[in-house]
Amino acid sequence: MVNLTTSLHNYTFQNPLMNASGVHCYTTEQLDELLASDAGTLVTKSATTEYRQGNPEPRYRNLALGSINSMGLPNEGLKYYLDYVLGKQTDAQVPPLFLSVAGLSMAEDLEMLAQIEKTDFNGLTELNLSCPNVPGKPQVAYDFEATEKMLDEAFSIFHKPLGVKLPPYFDLAQFDIMANILNKYPLAYINTINSVGNGLYIDVDSETVAIKPKGGFGGLGGAYILPTALANVHAFRQRLNPEIAIIGTGGVQNGADVFAHILAGADMVQVGTQLAKDGPAVFTRLTQELTNLMTEKNYQTLADFRGKVKTL
Ligand code: SIN
Repeated sequence: MVNLTTSLHNYTFQNPLMNASGVHCYTTEQLDELLASDAGTLVTKSATTEYRQGNPEPRYRNLALGSINSMGLPNEGLKYYLDYVLGKQTDAQVPPLFLSVAGLSMAEDLEMLAQIEKTDFNGLTELNLSCPNVPGKPQVAYDFEATEKMLDEAFSIFHKPLGVKLPPYFDLAQFDIMANILNKYPLAYINTINSVGNGLYIDVDSETVAIKPKGGFGGLGGAYILPTALANVHAFRQRLNPEIAIIGTGGVQNGADVFAHILAGADMVQVGTQLAKDGPAVFTRLTQELTNLMTEKNYQTLADFRGKVKTL
């Protein structure tokens, strides 16, 4: 019998799958659809303090090998998502939920964390340090000094379980530096990776880019990014304190991709582009495919193979 139960920090989930923030999580209707699906839990769209319209459309495009987006943090504002998670957490049927925040400045991040701290929210808060799509706002987590300052300040005011959403890194020296920083803090988890920022898709027939904002530059998701996501999960698992859990995000199309994320060291796995393409029913297929693969391989629990990728 296969058991997909997983835990992260002090929380337990029936299976390791959830949406990636930004996909199917803007409205309470979409969030309810995720809760009604076979996902193990959900994360809300990264919030700013107030409602944001985001970048001009078209700002998301499915591509043959994935997707490109430059949404620009459209969201309903922190209160909307905080009200949602607070409203749900009294329901014993609802798993622990993740609330994502992405301020446009450190001051805004701290203001939102302070607001959450004041409430009874008992789920996990995710500080998104990696949105590549707001013109004029570089991804915080590519600035190591700024990241350290952000985490210093965050942990001085925030005492609930906190994780960070990271962009992809591409050099082993970057993994070393970032892991040294992250290991200084009582992080519940990291979420790796956000989209591969500032790709450019060009349609040769029309000689045109695929999305309107930023002249077509946008974050890549889907099959394009699976090896980069696996590398980030594995490189951080090799470097982070074992108390810091890892959510693997990027490139999941099927149960084998979920399996690969866990083999690389992920405790939970998020689905973005494939969820955008298939809707919440994707979680039924993915849990079934993962179960089938584990059965074939004679694994009963995720711990049987988590982090155990073999090298040559
Ligand atoms: C966006 O809203 O532009 C995407 C958010 C993100 O990549 O963190």
